[in-house]
Amino acid sequence: MANIRRAGPSDFIEVARLDREAWTESRHATFIPDGEHAWRLWVEHAIVFVVEEDADLVGAALAFPTQAASYCLHKIFVERSRRGQGLGGDLMGAALRELESLGVPCFLTVDPVNEAAISLYENWGFSERTFVKGYYRPEEDRLVMTKPAPGA
Ligand SMILES: CC(C)(COP(=O)(O)OP(=O)(O)OC[C@H]1O[C@@H](n2cnc3c(N)ncnc32)[C@H](O)[C@@H]1OP(=O)(O)O)[C@@H](O)C(=O)NCCC(=O)NCCS
Repeated sequence: MANIRRAGPSDFIEVARLDREAWTESRHATFIPDGEHAWRLWVEHAIVFVVEEDADLVGAALAFPTQAASYCLHKIFVERSRRGQGLGGDLMGAALRELESLGVPCFLTVDPVNEAAISLYENWGFSERTFVKGYYRPEEDRLVMTKPAPGA
């Protein structure tokens, strides 16, 4: 039985472990962009939801505010063996309900070849897409996807 809850400071090592595992599947896995120290701050100061199954932490989503008064949905991942069971959608729903209660727009970036993530984002209302060449390193292009504020 899956349980979604807000993360707390004691979760950061486990969330960082899941993030590292998910990132090693990507095309750019020669480095780890978001490590334990970043997660320690995020679990306390940003919006982080985790999903647990049988007391195991199996996924997380992170959003943080930006100076432009929008939020960045920076991370969402589910442990590989637990995918395809609705947990990513559950995490997305929890994070977006929180952002909707704040009345803010939201954006994210995604690897243009990550079809599972892009489909998830489209299902949840991220409709605008902008392709940005070399968003990170020269070979790391991203799609920037946006979701307007509720009622906008
Ligand atoms: C993206 C991710 C979080 C989805 O988690 P999940 O638990 O498998 O997702 P769900 O089972 O809730 O599926 C939700 C939606 O995601 C999309 N999706 C999930 N897996 C998919 C796949 N293999 N191919 C295409 N779409 C897929 C679908 O739109 C699906 O909705 P549907 O079932 O109504 O078709 C998961 O694949 C993951 O952790 N990937 C690695 C990390 C990552 O790439 N994160 C995004 C970084 S920007």
